[in-house]
Amino acid sequence: MKTITLRLFVGIILAVELFCVYNAFSQEVSMTPNDTMAIIHRRKSVRTYTDKPVSVDLLEILVKAGMAAPTAADKRPWAFVVITQRDVLDRLAEGLEYGKMLKNAQAAIAVCGIPEESLPGISQMYWVQDCSAATQNILLAAESKNLGAVWLGIYPENDRIDFVRSVLSIPSNVVPLNVISIGYPAGLERPKDKYDPDKIHWNKW
Ligand SMILES: Cc1cc2nc3c(=O)[nH]c(=O)nc-3n(C[C@H](O)[C@H](O)[C@H](O)COP(=O)(O)O)c2cc1C
Repeated sequence: MKTITLRLFVGIILAVELFCVYNAFSQEVSMTPNDTMAIIHRRKSVRTYTDKPVSVDLLEILVKAGMAAPTAADKRPWAFVVITQRDVLDRLAEGLEYGKMLKNAQAAIAVCGIPEESLPGISQMYWVQDCSAATQNILLAAESKNLGAVWLGIYPENDRIDFVRSVLSIPSNVVPLNVISIGYPAGLERPKDKYDPDKIHWNKW
């Protein structure tokens, strides 16, 4: 009887120890650099790149992340133009005043909205939010893959929309929201600490 009680006691101690080790391990895993919160806070606009090429597989991963974004009524009113050709990246760089980094980028993704595929009436404008959510997903996916990226605003500037449409042969019913410039970071940029508790209103303004 004494031996059984002792074995039971040792068994319980072992089980508790195993649980503690597992718990510590899972917490450590959630603190690894690929932790979602770490990636959100590590993301920054990257405008300087090395000459290391970005693989097509990685670009597909980024677009797939974009398409995982939420959209109003699940309409997914978007299309993505993935640009890998040097001459196209150079033409975009030449024509976009604030997109000169495309000259050194290895790739870019133009996130486009298709308003007619969104909701009817005023709700059609949700395409902007849908495509913005996709864009942020792409930026975070880029960070998680140790790529550097920056959002270059195109919509609602009509001259930029016309220019990007003409370079990328985008039809007139499709609106480029932005061009995301992509490459491996040269290591110059750092994330900013933007936390400002004064911007938070609890329960009412
Ligand atoms: C709608 C929008 C348009 C932007 N357009 C440009 C742009 O044309 N060129 C550029 O270099 N950065 C552009 N940016 C990047 C911002 O300058 C950048 O996000 C901001 O300075 C904050 O820095 P961070 O991204 O490193 O946190 C744009 C960002 C957004 C959201």
